Amino acid sequence: MPGYHWVPASLQGRLLDREAKRDRARLEHDVTELAAALDSVRETSAEVDATYRSFVELPEADPVMAASPELARFLLAWCRCRRPRRIADLGSGFSSWLFRWWAAAEPDEVTVVSVDDDPAWLERSRAFAADRGLEGGDFRGWRAFRAGSEAFDLVLWDYGDIRTRAERLPEVLRRVREGGALVCDDVHKHRVWRAARSCAGAAGIETYSLRAYTLDRWGRYAWLARLAERGAGGIGRRSA
Ligand SMILES: C[S@@+](CC[C@H](N)C(=O)[O-])C[C@H]1O[C@@H](n2cnc3c(N)ncnc32)[C@H](O)[C@@H]1O
Repeated sequence: MPGYHWVPASLQGRLLDREAKRDRARLEHDVTELAAALDSVRETSAEVDATYRSFVELPEADPVMAASPELARFLLAWCRCRRPRRIADLGSGFSSWLFRWWAAAEPDEVTVVSVDDDPAWLERSRAFAADRGLEGGDFRGWRAFRAGSEAFDLVLWDYGDIRTRAERLPEVLRRVREGGALVCDDVHKHRVWRAARSCAGAAGIETYSLRAYTLDRWGRYAWLARLAERGAGGIGRRSA
């Protein structure tokens, strides 16, 4: 269990749920358009759910590795209300299709960079999107991503194993631009939760548990870091 490991197991779930409820209220207060975007996604989630099912039915795919439909719906709502122009999809797969599908409907250009340390998996992710009419785009290995310096409006941090996820989080957070956000999946793993908590705390970034939106049938859920806009009290400073 992330955090709260010092309290009896019977209490942990209740504390996490209380934190989830509080963070949901904070987030929908801080990002006022989010609640309406979540409603709009709920009304149109059939294509997302259907594509998720075809993704996890691939012989090579493992549903425990793929971004969940719950996370997909949150990401879609975030994209609809924040309209990121540059997205880093770190840990390719179902999410690579999702971001491109959303971007294809946008009137303005959106760049989606999908990254993986496994070339075969990167190719599988590219082919899955291409088979559904979403050709091209930027698919890179970790080294090529790391060699770049561009900043992103939205980063999905769903990359590699749990150790890698925790260790590289500070580095990846530096690639989020002012006013942008990072969504880190799998904070139900204590190691990832601890990394998220400590690096966000050190940088003074506003953070939210996304458990209320993204808790799935395996007990996985995500976390959001939001960097302040320039002029809103300094880069990444807490607003409250
Ligand atoms: C949590 S997964 C990434 C999931 C991705 N964001 C998605 O939505 O499907 C992390 C890494 O596991 C690796 N992986 C290996 N086998 C996989 C599988 N069967 N399904 C998904 N990812 C797999 C990939 O290298 C991937 O980057």
